[in-house]
Amino acid sequence: MSYRIAVFDAKKYDIDNFNTVNEKYGFQLRFHKEHLDIHNVILASECDAVCVFVNAVIDAAVINKLVSLGVKLIALRCAGFNNVDIASAAGRITVVRVPEYSPHAIAEHTLALMLSLNRRIHRAFWRTKDNNFSLNGFLGFDMCGKTIGVIGTGKIGRVVVELMKGLGMRVLAYDLYPNNEFAEKIGLEYTSLEEIYRQADIITLHCPLTKETEYMICDKSIEKMKDGVMIVNTGRGKLIHTKHLIDGLVSGKVGFAGLDVYEEESAYFYEDFSDKVLTDETLARLLSFNNVIVTSHQAFFTKEAMTNIAMTTMDNILDFFTNKELKNEVVYKKPENN
Ligand code: NAI
Repeated sequence: MSYRIAVFDAKKYDIDNFNTVNEKYGFQLRFHKEHLDIHNVILASECDAVCVFVNAVIDAAVINKLVSLGVKLIALRCAGFNNVDIASAAGRITVVRVPEYSPHAIAEHTLALMLSLNRRIHRAFWRTKDNNFSLNGFLGFDMCGKTIGVIGTGKIGRVVVELMKGLGMRVLAYDLYPNNEFAEKIGLEYTSLEEIYRQADIITLHCPLTKETEYMICDKSIEKMKDGVMIVNTGRGKLIHTKHLIDGLVSGKVGFAGLDVYEEESAYFYEDFSDKVLTDETLARLLSFNNVIVTSHQAFFTKEAMTNIAMTTMDNILDFFTNKELKNEVVYKKPENN
């Protein structure tokens, strides 16, 4: 039987990629350009599964509707699953994800943001295009010998640590579950968040968005950081309280911000608003700083990662419909105090 999959948030590059990989699987793919939410969930009618991306809004209402339409599977084509109400899905509809597709893609984008901000590549590009060859305002710093704080040393964080070590940086890290074997091998020091805030010249975020990590970068944590600190976020937008970050940028406490994610990104990212007025004043303010680089949740976007994403997604779907063991299921864990 050929299963019908509604693929949401499908851009041309997704359609090309999925169609190529699907030659081996033969699913019926129905592509929709919108990200899945309560307004368009009806597009999943007559489908066996939905395939969704980072900005889908899969709350209890969407899950109820998917279940009533007879959809059996939510296949996330990303690692994070903070946008799915897992408690509501439990026992009613299965959720799978792609836990790893290329940690290198995200780690290398993180490095690109740091180097661009530090050496003002984004500004130099425009300056030389205007025949302006002045260096005023472009004084950078050697990364070698500086201290970086890596928050979250999972698959991506560990590649970031390796890259930073390659630059000759001192690496401090914080993780709920420290990887001591890796720390010893690479030479990083696990420490507290407080110490990272106190000592790091650059702070980079690679932990998941959870109740504990939401808004971990806020006025209180920024206050503890070094003057002129660089903050890089390729994790999830809500790790940072954006208005507090803006206050830090205005005061000069925060020297640079590299943001591949933004807390309200779902309204904008992946779409072209170039002939419209930007109505999100917080995003507009962020974009007005010349020491901030915003990229549109593109850290994952390499050929290798895209191919891996499509292959793992299709394997997940096939495993589900052929009753194989699900390696990549997102399992609901009941909170311990309930
Ligand atoms: P991972 O699961 O391998 O690593 C996450 C690490 O964070 C683990 O070591 C975990 O122990 C740690 N952690 C969990 N809670 C924490 C807390 N409260 N404080 C500190 N550390 C904590 O995940 P991976 O693959 O490294 O991805 C990390 C995050 O990057 C994902 O959750 C996702 O949000 C984001 N991501 C962003 C992409 C992009 O294109 N910008 C693409 C892929 C992932």
